Amino acid sequence: MKNNSQKINTIGIITSGGDAPGMNACIRALTRTALFHNMNVIGFKQGYNGLIENNTVFLDSKKVGNIIQRGGTILKTARSEEFRTFEGRKKAFENLKLNNVDALVAIGGDGTFTGADIFNREFDFPIIGIPGTIDNDLFGTDNTIGYDTALNTVVSAVDKIRDTASSHGRLFVIEVMGKDAGLIALRSGISTGAEAILIPETTTYIDHLLNKLCKDRANKKPSGIIIVAEGDDFGGAYNVAKAVKEDHPLYDIRVTVLGHIQRGGSPSAFDRVLASQLGYGAIKALINGDKNAMIGIINKEYVLTPFDQAIKHNNKINMSLLELAEVLAC
Ligand code: F6P
Repeated sequence: MKNNSQKINTIGIITSGGDAPGMNACIRALTRTALFHNMNVIGFKQGYNGLIENNTVFLDSKKVGNIIQRGGTILKTARSEEFRTFEGRKKAFENLKLNNVDALVAIGGDGTFTGADIFNREFDFPIIGIPGTIDNDLFGTDNTIGYDTALNTVVSAVDKIRDTASSHGRLFVIEVMGKDAGLIALRSGISTGAEAILIPETTTYIDHLLNKLCKDRANKKPSGIIIVAEGDDFGGAYNVAKAVKEDHPLYDIRVTVLGHIQRGGSPSAFDRVLASQLGYGAIKALINGDKNAMIGIINKEYVLTPFDQAIKHNNKINMSLLELAEVLAC
């Protein structure tokens, strides 16, 4: 992972994949740390598409001012189809050379790092990845940029829904994002006192849920919240609601799919600090000669994890939290 041969004069930055709150704070930290070390900074717009189309913007201290609090990404983002092809990656490499870019920093999630890994193997171009995704599904960091904000967005939405659930005596089945990971579901479920939490990391036994709801009704508890991760093996909130209705026709059930409100909004203080630390750390890592790895923070320490390890989807679920959630929902 070391690259001792070359001084870095110019870095390129992309944000790629799904946007996540805190990406702008990270662009700011990268730019200002790089400028502090006398580097030039070029942003490429719309993820890997910006490399392929040579869609650039020079970043200076002013251009990244007043963005730390903004959601989304000033560099825009995309899930690039063309970068999946060798021809696309070759164009990207040629444009990096054309702009005299010595190293690239890619802020994104597993799709971004899969691309970075392939690109690096083909063209031996130095890249550092920064984990930016609301899903928190990357191995090699305790938290990804955007996860904390998304979690708080879900909690605030579910709290509001809870008001209606209890006023009307309704059962709400609420679907949250996370792709094939249940981290948003688990922590938001605990934070909102959900009656049940269904996540992809464990098999969903619908009978288990139905029995629990039976007990709740026997205890004269007509309202409730079930949080379902979008990747759950039972197939999402509508399927769960249908199964519950068939078994408990008396329940007044509503489904809410929270959707993309989870990706937007002003980043939390936690995400702003994390993004600043990771941006700063990424430049330090490049100066140190590191490359082709994702920088993360584990137990307050910077850690570099090779791309192919970071995207291994290692299960980050703390099973004792699931048990805790069940006990507290009794
Ligand atoms: O990876 C972030 C994420 O929001 C996932 O939670 C979700 O499955 C996916 O992106 C949605 O992607 P899109 O915005 O392309 O529909």
